Amino acid sequence: MELTLLSPLDMHLHLRDGEMLHNIAQASAHTFSGAVIMPNLVPPVSNKEDVVAYKDRIIDAIGNENFTPYMTLFFKPDYDKTFLESVRNEITAIKLYPAGITTNSEGGVSGFDVEELRPALSAMAELDIPLCVHGETNGFVMDREAEFVSIYEKLASAFPKLKIIMEHITTKESIEALDRFDNLYATITIHHLLITLDDVAGGMLQPHLFCKPIAKRPEDREALLKVALNAHPKVMFGSDSAPHPKHAKEACGCAAGVFTAPIALQVLTELFEKNNTSFENLQAFISGNAQRIYGVTPIYKKVILEKKSFKVPAEYNGVVPMYAGEELSYSVKEIIDG
Ligand code: DOR
Ligand code: ZN
Repeated sequence: MELTLLSPLDMHLHLRDGEMLHNIAQASAHTFSGAVIMPNLVPPVSNKEDVVAYKDRIIDAIGNENFTPYMTLFFKPDYDKTFLESVRNEITAIKLYPAGITTNSEGGVSGFDVEELRPALSAMAELDIPLCVHGETNGFVMDREAEFVSIYEKLASAFPKLKIIMEHITTKESIEALDRFDNLYATITIHHLLITLDDVAGGMLQPHLFCKPIAKRPEDREALLKVALNAHPKVMFGSDSAPHPKHAKEACGCAAGVFTAPIALQVLTELFEKNNTSFENLQAFISGNAQRIYGVTPIYKKVILEKKSFKVPAEYNGVVPMYAGEELSYSVKEIIDG
């Protein structure tokens, strides 16, 4: 059995820099038409020169693949309209991190005072620059995202013209918020559709499934699965594939992040099939919804998957993927692009 996906998009991806970028960029660039690239480098990507230079390094790393890196800046409250106008054509979105909440987010936002954020966020709304948000407070780890919903609501009502993307949502509370505000959208990862906290820490600790936000309860996963499988029009696929070297994951003080880029399409196809979901919904979740929400037209890429066992490699250039060593039921057969 074969199945064709058209121009898949990953609306939340960590490509890193330097050697890691060269080691892992291909995994996304081969099968995806494009991806929204996270700016949490050290130092974060927060000016025009850096974003242009980072995009060039990505293009260099992907070699001959047909792939568009949709660039982002790391949100700073002091971005003003003049700056944003000058950088508008270089970026697709701006990513806001609460200070210190995850990998390389120390320079993020604290307090979420609407008046302090107003100049930057109003200018973004005017220039139609979406705001992508890592929505977690610094409360108890299982409650961080649900606690952040009130901040989403505050931002969504104070800036009704601003497109706000709730990144990598993990809870039913976030899904409920989506339908309360026209300007809230969301990305969902693969791992949050498949695992709960039990898979991370219920038995032997699984460092390669440890990420931020941490996987939650079965009822949260069910709620996520429902909107993904139904291709809820405000929900898009964003892998949050976040590679770390094996030694940084299998360590005391394990780095947060699940590496899913090389298995993403195979796993999603299997998941949608298992749930008897229409192929149109998978196509909408993996590309159509993102095209509409972001207003992007991706490079044409036809990915043909076949129902043939695929053994996930133990490592990709020193990075351990999700499902390492396990068998998936779909393989990528052929990619037609250009
Ligand atoms: O698990 C995560 N890893 N969550 C994030 O928000 C950041 C990411 C990373 O950059 O490693
Ligand atoms: Zn991320």
